[in-house]
Amino acid sequence: MDFRKEIAALLDAALQKEFGQSLDGLAQMLEQPPNPDLGDYAFPCFKLAKTLRKAPPAIAGALAGDLKAPFLSRAEQNGGYLNFYIEKDFYAKTVVEAVLNAGGRYGAGQEGAGKTVCFDYSSINIAKPFHIGHLLTTVIGNSLVRIYQYLGYHTVSINHLGDWGTQFGKLIVAYRRWGDRAQIERNPMRELVAIYVRFHEEAEKDPSLDDEARAAFKSLEDGDAQAMALYNWFKEVTLREVGRVYDMLGITFDSYNGEAFYCDKMEPVVQELRDKHLLQLSEGAQIVDLEPYGMPPCLILRSDGATLYATRDIAAAFYRKKTYDFDKCLYVVAYQQTLHFKQWFKVVELMGYPWAKDLEHIAFGMVSLEDGAMSTRKGRVIYLEDVFKAAIEKAQAIMQEKSPDLPCMEDVAKDVGVGAVVFFALYNNRIKDVVFSWDRALNFDGETGPYVQYTHARCCSLLKKAQEAGVESSEGHAGALTDDEAQEVLRLLSRFPETVREAADRYEPSMVTRHITRIAQAYNKYYYEHRILDEDKAASAARVRLTEAVRDVLRTGLWLIGIEAPERM
Ligand code: ARG
Repeated sequence: MDFRKEIAALLDAALQKEFGQSLDGLAQMLEQPPNPDLGDYAFPCFKLAKTLRKAPPAIAGALAGDLKAPFLSRAEQNGGYLNFYIEKDFYAKTVVEAVLNAGGRYGAGQEGAGKTVCFDYSSINIAKPFHIGHLLTTVIGNSLVRIYQYLGYHTVSINHLGDWGTQFGKLIVAYRRWGDRAQIERNPMRELVAIYVRFHEEAEKDPSLDDEARAAFKSLEDGDAQAMALYNWFKEVTLREVGRVYDMLGITFDSYNGEAFYCDKMEPVVQELRDKHLLQLSEGAQIVDLEPYGMPPCLILRSDGATLYATRDIAAAFYRKKTYDFDKCLYVVAYQQTLHFKQWFKVVELMGYPWAKDLEHIAFGMVSLEDGAMSTRKGRVIYLEDVFKAAIEKAQAIMQEKSPDLPCMEDVAKDVGVGAVVFFALYNNRIKDVVFSWDRALNFDGETGPYVQYTHARCCSLLKKAQEAGVESSEGHAGALTDDEAQEVLRLLSRFPETVREAADRYEPSMVTRHITRIAQAYNKYYYEHRILDEDKAASAARVRLTEAVRDVLRTGLWLIGIEAPERM
């Protein structure tokens, strides 16, 4: 039963009767008051005031008397609002049934069927550290992919590798001079970064190194076999290393086509820009003037003919449109690149492609360290893998102390440690800057991943206990779930599907994170104030059934934000 629809139908009938009016979209106009004293649903009459030429309270008052149905305990006027109170027993039955009938996919949908969304996220740079600065793009992107899949969309996840540019000339020179193959194999990222840093130090003393690097990059562009072999190896060892982190997170990509992939796909784009008279010469470089749109020009070709980051992004967008025929192409990238995306989105629009409006930059805040900015050059970097490893170790230490004979402890410690960090990253609104703190990322108390995971595990163990005690899960008797604590859990469960949709619309996984945290809190409150398994078998059966519903929704919610839900911990 869809309460919104039912209430909308009642409202419609009342409007007809009292005012001879019909109104579309009543269901969407219903609000869910945060305070249950104001009803389960509320209808604001302010919009009607204009058409009906009556004050909102008068409208609400006139309609209130007509709003009667078996599922409503009452409907009453309160100021300009109509508040609807759903009959509690009926509410409990309907909500729990909806969750359990969904078979672990409560809130899933098909509204995305037939639509394709590309997600460009994580997008690491080869031979550069995979550090906590990449945490947000990686976990936000992954969660959005899952949320969209859950709503029936076809998703394409793309790791747009930063695998092209003059830095590879420097790396080749550095490797030829100071590189140690075995050492790099053992510890790719750190060793490659170390020789890269050394290159910059040495080049300050000996500028001829820069010329050498330029020549090396040129040989790479010309496809020189030796240079290519080195370059491919850099790429391979880097991907192997980041792959470990993706494995921990359960992330896979449909494509690793990065900047290098577009090298031979830019010429037609440049040509088209030229044909459409969008290119201008400026200080030797080819640019698209964006002055009329209040932006600095978009650089397409440097004076030496080299292409730029934006050129590659434009070529990539064309390739993706052709290959995936996307309905939307999303770029989960830090807000520092906002101008970059605005500029080249505009260029695509000026080229006359209406799908330019389907390109969207999903910006997020910056991660900084407690004691200042990160700097690769100065070695002030926190590697993502280290963060996860530390979290896993901490989880394991706690478990060794609290539940020493937990089976598969290592797996569970991995799920909990990784979950803690992911949750930390997805708890706040994405645009907020995050100051990385070991303490907070590894905190297992309060509003954290382990807390939600623990609540899920608590549900699982309770359900096992119930089974052993022969308590079946059933609707129980009327009144079994009408107490305030149970009703609060039910309210939150019933709002889960729309929360997922809102999270999708706003590209905001934190809405799911916060919602499941609230469910966990509400359930724990319920758990402490009511004995789930007691003498009253019929009531126990209903509480067990509610527990089942909570377990399902917590598991789903955790999955949507990319966190595992172990059954024991
Ligand atoms: N590799 C880039 C960086 O680390 C991010 C790439 C984002 N994606 C894109 N299509 N530009 O800054």
